[in-house]
Amino acid sequence: MKTNVWKVDKYVDNLESNPQIVDAAQVLRQNEVVALPTETVYGLGGNAKNDEAVSKIFAAKGRPVDNPLIIHIAEQNQLNEFVAEVPRKASLLIETFWPGPLTIILKIKEGILSDKATAGLGTVGVRMPDHPVALALLKACGLPIAAPSANSSGKPSPTTAQHVLEDLEGKIAGIVDGGPTGVGVESTVLDCTEDIPVILRPGAVTKEQLEEVVGEVRVDRALTETDLKPKAPGMKYQHYAPNAPLYLVAGSHAFLQQLVKDKQQEGLRVGVLTTEESVNDYQADVVLACGTRAEPETVAASLYGVLRNFNHEKVDIIFSEMFSNSGVGHAIMNRLQKAAGNKLIQE
Ligand code: TXA
Ligand code: MG
Repeated sequence: MKTNVWKVDKYVDNLESNPQIVDAAQVLRQNEVVALPTETVYGLGGNAKNDEAVSKIFAAKGRPVDNPLIIHIAEQNQLNEFVAEVPRKASLLIETFWPGPLTIILKIKEGILSDKATAGLGTVGVRMPDHPVALALLKACGLPIAAPSANSSGKPSPTTAQHVLEDLEGKIAGIVDGGPTGVGVESTVLDCTEDIPVILRPGAVTKEQLEEVVGEVRVDRALTETDLKPKAPGMKYQHYAPNAPLYLVAGSHAFLQQLVKDKQQEGLRVGVLTTEESVNDYQADVVLACGTRAEPETVAASLYGVLRNFNHEKVDIIFSEMFSNSGVGHAIMNRLQKAAGNKLIQE
């Protein structure tokens, strides 16, 4: 299959009637799958009401079928079509954070969405992305769009159209290239089906921000205790992994440098993941900086691109510094721990 690339400037006016968007929307209505930019990462979109379209998403990604997809909408009133009820707290959160990187899990109205999209769970994750291109495309096609991150299953999520092509060229009908995404890590997933909301996946909208709006918010214990089964089916799979084994290192830069030296002596090509402040502290085969520690948002924005660059550099092993767990740092550490398969070396 030839993968069409529609380039769209996200700053132009009247995106909804932009010929590229109109074309891509038409392809979505024909139940083909199209990758699209959001403010978090690129998604692989398909008609959420159509089994055939949803099956194409799972096939292109090689995604396990028990892992449900997030449904993307452009207007709040689309919710009524497929959601049974919107509890008060969910409604407050929607008012505050949509459009934005917050996915809300709600009880479903049966028989509207493809069961394949929701993995037959009786609940559905929904969000309204804060990206002009995504919103224009959603409006132009007039459908709820199921869209997981547009990577091959297990790989780091794509933050540029190039990343999507690396993984999915030839397997999908097209990609709307709206430039690099902003946030860089996926949305916060929040279960609002019970009275006290539960964070199933940390993201750019933090626990503190949520609590300001609705009071107490819990964090799924499976996020901290690795032997528990997570409530978000996707969180149990190895994810975001670069090709080489990745180790998180809790210790001084000198300690990390010694690990590098030992592995180089074994003849390995060694990578170090650090930030701009510390690139000169290491002598390794490949030293890559992920933004600056002073601004954790820049770390989130460049994390997946850097993990992919280690693949291009063909390293044999990667050592990564640790990051603070607060604010967006919670999401950064969650993704790094998954990418590392929880491998940690302590000084
Ligand atoms: O930022 C994002 O959320 C991106 C962009 C494209 O919107 N999408 C994304 O989708 O990250 P995906 O499929 O890669 O991750 C969806 C996560 C998975 O961990 C999945 O298990 C969880 O959300 N999820 C979806 N529906 C759920 C449900 N009904 N109950 C519990 N977890 C659910
Ligand atoms: Mg994903």
